Amino acid sequence: MTPWIDVAAEADLFEGAGIAMALEGQDIALFKLEDGSIYAINNLCSHGNAKLCDGFVDGHHVECPFHQALFDLRDGTVSCGPATEPVKSWPVKIEDGRVYLNLNC
Ligand code: FES
Repeated sequence: MTPWIDVAAEADLFEGAGIAMALEGQDIALFKLEDGSIYAINNLCSHGNAKLCDGFVDGHHVECPFHQALFDLRDGTVSCGPATEPVKSWPVKIEDGRVYLNLNC
């Protein structure tokens, strides 16, 4: 069985913004960047109860809407505090205009 889950149409995602989705008990934020690349990270900030899908996207970073920690959307690492712990990220692939996530990683 393929680990890839069809989660969205690429055309339904807005560049420079994130959307939230609940999949298999995970709260996930899916972002499309201005270069068209798409990334999936945990939607809950590692510093507090903020939803990263509501954060400001700048390049390949998202800024937490609560205390402005910066997370790298490519791997969930912290680029600027106050957060110190990374958020989980999941592999994304795009095929025939559809976006797939692999939650097994
Ligand atoms: Fe995200 Fe504080 S809750 S930086």
